[in-house]
Amino acid sequence: MELNHLTPLIGSEVLGADLSSLDDIKAGWIRKQLIERQVLVFRDQQLNREQHKAVARLFGTGKLHVHALVPAGQEDPEYAPIRTTPDSNYAIGEGWHTDVSCDPAPIAASALYMREMPEIGGGDTMFASMTECYKRLSDPLRDLAHRLTALHDGAKPWRDVYAIDPPAGMPYNRTVHPLVIAHPDSGLPVLWLNRGFVTRIEGVTPLEGRHLLELYLNHIETCLPAQVRVKWAPDTLVLWDNVATQHHAVWDYHPYSRYAERVSVIGSELRAA
Ligand code: SIN
Repeated sequence: MELNHLTPLIGSEVLGADLSSLDDIKAGWIRKQLIERQVLVFRDQQLNREQHKAVARLFGTGKLHVHALVPAGQEDPEYAPIRTTPDSNYAIGEGWHTDVSCDPAPIAASALYMREMPEIGGGDTMFASMTECYKRLSDPLRDLAHRLTALHDGAKPWRDVYAIDPPAGMPYNRTVHPLVIAHPDSGLPVLWLNRGFVTRIEGVTPLEGRHLLELYLNHIETCLPAQVRVKWAPDTLVLWDNVATQHHAVWDYHPYSRYAERVSVIGSELRAA
């Protein structure tokens, strides 16, 4: 296997990989590359669902995450269908976010496997490196970030993106996380806030909190050298480090359809850097 870097700082295509038959050596190599490159793109993969789940289990705790968006009664709840149709009012993942950062032990890695692409093209996914965004803060703002914590609220995407309250009885988490966490594998500092889930910065006045939140989020969202834009084709699988990155699905193909399946693995509790 070898890498073809998509940008200097984040994201690589992995050439010569067959994810349906990984031995320990190949799995270890992929784990190492994911820590380095944060987003790995595998083309032309032929995987059944068990093989797809086995890829995700190589990371984090190895325990698969069951997403609140999985339709009740779905036979296998360990994969999340990501479907957009002509009737969709929203596309899952549109807007910068880190998957379920509201959990005390958020997702370590996700594996999204593309099944059907819009005939018109488009439907890319953007990723941004939060280790790189941390590095590119000025010294005073970096120091301040180390002293702050923020509330990540699982109800926010429902209200902001899906424009509804979370269904009654739906379990979702609210967790206060440090603004700078230590990556569980690399130990590197990660800027840990995203527009999808964070509702407020703690320990400052509401006015200060609103301005600080926008300041850090604008830094993240406009830091182009820290971003990569992935183009999909059917049978492409993209693996991302969900602690070191955030992502944004681009919904530029309405009224065409797109369908992918995501398997995610739970990570460890986060600690301050
Ligand atoms: C997601 O947010 O996990 C979905 C990303 C995508 O559909 O490109």
